[in-house]
Amino acid sequence: MQPMRLFRGQILNPEAEDRYSYHTDGGIVIDGSGVILAVGDYHEVQQQYPSADPVDCSDRLILPGFIDTHTHLPQYRAVARYGNELLEWLERDIFPTEREFTPETADTLCPIFFRSLLAHGVTTAAIYCSVRKDSTHVAFQWAEQTGIRAIIGKVMMDRNAPDFLLEKTSDSLQASEEVCRAWHGAANGKLLYAFTPRFAPTCSRALMRGVSDLASQYGAYIQTHLAENLAELQWVRELFPETRSYTDVYFGTGLLGPKTLLAHAIYVSSDERRLLADTGSCLSHCPASNLFLKSGLMPLRELMDMGLRIGVGSDVASGPTLSPFEAMRSAIYTHTARRFLPDFGGGDISPTTAFYLATLGGARALRLDDKIGSLVCGKEADFIIVNPQRLSPLPTEKWVEISPDTLLSRLIFCGDDRIVEQTYVRGTLCYDRRSHDNNDR
Ligand code: GUN
Ligand code: ZN
Repeated sequence: MQPMRLFRGQILNPEAEDRYSYHTDGGIVIDGSGVILAVGDYHEVQQQYPSADPVDCSDRLILPGFIDTHTHLPQYRAVARYGNELLEWLERDIFPTEREFTPETADTLCPIFFRSLLAHGVTTAAIYCSVRKDSTHVAFQWAEQTGIRAIIGKVMMDRNAPDFLLEKTSDSLQASEEVCRAWHGAANGKLLYAFTPRFAPTCSRALMRGVSDLASQYGAYIQTHLAENLAELQWVRELFPETRSYTDVYFGTGLLGPKTLLAHAIYVSSDERRLLADTGSCLSHCPASNLFLKSGLMPLRELMDMGLRIGVGSDVASGPTLSPFEAMRSAIYTHTARRFLPDFGGGDISPTTAFYLATLGGARALRLDDKIGSLVCGKEADFIIVNPQRLSPLPTEKWVEISPDTLLSRLIFCGDDRIVEQTYVRGTLCYDRRSHDNNDR
């Protein structure tokens, strides 16, 4: 148990998609188990909790940790291979990379990957491994060791994949169930399991139905990809000719629901959008990936206006970086690009909204907003200490005198991992820039 602590600093806190709160001289009190006891103006909370150990960050910004709702751990070795669209890229760049995700390579890659997430200020991530059960265990072990909060799953594929990654349906279900039993709820609930059928083209109906049963049996998540690329859509039509839509394939096999996280959702009709909303399914918007693989522009504003729960995802390696700053600004740029399309539905994605998507919105998409996503009394203390001075073009500028709107805008459009100094998960320091050299990114 840690002592009760009072962190003092500027606090930027998301409250809704169009609103945040700001304390110029703020304080957060955290109890020994990592739960937030109070947040507010420093002097007020200090009076409430005079015995708390002071931690002075008064020349720094305190933000809730970022949430990456979609990324692929084994693919970290294959970032930024530009050129192909989704299906060719999977075949040429990704499947061979995932083949090499043995427990030995996982043991080298996992600490780098998790530390890199923490170094970017990410405190929670939803992660795909490869089809290998043993390597997925290694990933969970490293997640536990580094202290990050994570939802992790073994990828499942029982057709239309290279022989070296293909599984028998029953083996895939059994292996996934084993990993789920071992890890779902581990580390006092910080580690959770997601059944991870890769996407409809590589999964039989029997596999998807089996996933639906297992996920409800264990109260675990389901994560998969949906409607990312036009050639993929055509392939799904050929593979499931009797089904109305891509979304309907997942609906018909029982995959949709409140603990289902679907990445991309670029090409979804109004019927499909309704189905997603009605089933309470959640979305991961991966704007950098959507541009990198030339996939398309997700109708984020329209989907948000339907009340869907949406977070942002780095989608490494089709997104070239784990940076949540990149995800936030790409979400804004994508929306801006959509303004020039004839079917543009209107609306805005402001820096406030992007900040919300990468924090509280992500927590809502993962159904964890009762625990994380914002700094509120009763939630767990997942937060980061940021030094915005590094974003200033003028050495003499005093960032505390900048308006919070400008500060947020600068964070999003100029931010990167260099401004993140410390990352705390459930009140525990998991990353400290001072003890890492520049190569450890
Ligand atoms: N669809 C199926 N698998 C993948 C993957 O690994 N990355 C992306 N971006 N889309 C996918
Ligand atoms: Zn993906």
